[in-house]
Amino acid sequence: MAQVAVLGYGTVGSGVVEVIEKNSDVISKRVGEDITVKYVLDLRDFPGDPIQDRVVHDYDTIVNDKDISIICETMGGINPAYEFTKKALMAGKSVCTSNKELVAAHGPELISIAKANKCNYFFEASVGGGIPIIRPFNEALTAEKIDCIMGILNGTTNYILSKMENEGAAFDTVLKEAQEKGYAERNPEADVEGYDAGRKIAILASLVYGETVKFEDVFTEGITKIAPVDFEYAKKLGLTIKLIGLEKETSEGRFAVVTPRLIGSESPLAGVKDVFNGILVHSNMLDYSMYYGRGAGKLPTASAVVGDVIAAAKNPGNHLTCVWEEKACSLADYKKLAQKYFVRVAGNMAELKADIEKVFAGASFVQLDNVTDEFAFVTEEMTELEYDKKAASINNIKSMIRM
Ligand code: HSE
Repeated sequence: MAQVAVLGYGTVGSGVVEVIEKNSDVISKRVGEDITVKYVLDLRDFPGDPIQDRVVHDYDTIVNDKDISIICETMGGINPAYEFTKKALMAGKSVCTSNKELVAAHGPELISIAKANKCNYFFEASVGGGIPIIRPFNEALTAEKIDCIMGILNGTTNYILSKMENEGAAFDTVLKEAQEKGYAERNPEADVEGYDAGRKIAILASLVYGETVKFEDVFTEGITKIAPVDFEYAKKLGLTIKLIGLEKETSEGRFAVVTPRLIGSESPLAGVKDVFNGILVHSNMLDYSMYYGRGAGKLPTASAVVGDVIAAAKNPGNHLTCVWEEKACSLADYKKLAQKYFVRVAGNMAELKADIEKVFAGASFVQLDNVTDEFAFVTEEMTELEYDKKAASINNIKSMIRM
């Protein structure tokens, strides 16, 4: 029997207990032994909850218990999760986590501690919630050279953008509604400013490069400036707007950025709606592959943690390779990334078009029905450095969205 401890009995932690107990029959069969939750660490007590007698408040009870071979870290945040994880790994206990903040900040160090102590640091749930993406990167895709990842990696912002598109509602209105329904955090900054997606693309890019892509080096732009009118233009152009975590290797270097993007309605990512996540991967032998599903939520995320628990239980004393070194990966300046730009301009299109065409040769123009005081154009592909230089000579630009 493998005995497990769960750190943090919040949404994901309680989900982990539920998955282990509800699916105990198939889990036992697949592991070859039973998996049971011996402890739940939390500051609170849970009277009346089936786990009430297993709640402990002192982490040493867990880390000093030789029967505990696997720890699920579902606390979130850096502290004390970082210290707890290190202590567990040093004691040879595998740790399975949903904590993307900790993985993005200290992943390679924790992996190397796990390696030295013949155990595992698994983090499938840290990116894409319940969607299998870390294990495909570490196992099924290891024969591939991955050159591009485009991911809708944040459920909250995808929900907000989907609602704005469907209902023509403003960002603030939809955010408020999402907060009231509990879909968005009371402090939504990490989601709406793209930091959450930034951590997730940093983790995926680190696995691609085998070196550490620091979250702080990932350029992030959130969705707060997206307006309902942007969706009107998008519809007219046969496009939609998504917050995309992009990893790309070009002749200019390696890029990792998170920004809103206009994407074609034929793209598989266009069909990823509401709280769902989707990750489109391009690699040199397989071509495109897509990973889709619930990127957040109690049971989907917990399922990914428990999948890791099963992998840990099947590999006692055996560290499974994950190539992610602490060495910092040098990213290219995001301004060198080449792409097209959708640009909204205040003023009369007939009067301004010729001047804009002189600067942005090959631009295509679009105007909404019954609107005469603004219009938009789509540029040819160019780096953001080139775009900035050209855009500086046009006075009345209202907004720009990358494509
Ligand atoms: N806030 C995150 C999201 C939770 O909305 O996707 C899952 O990481």
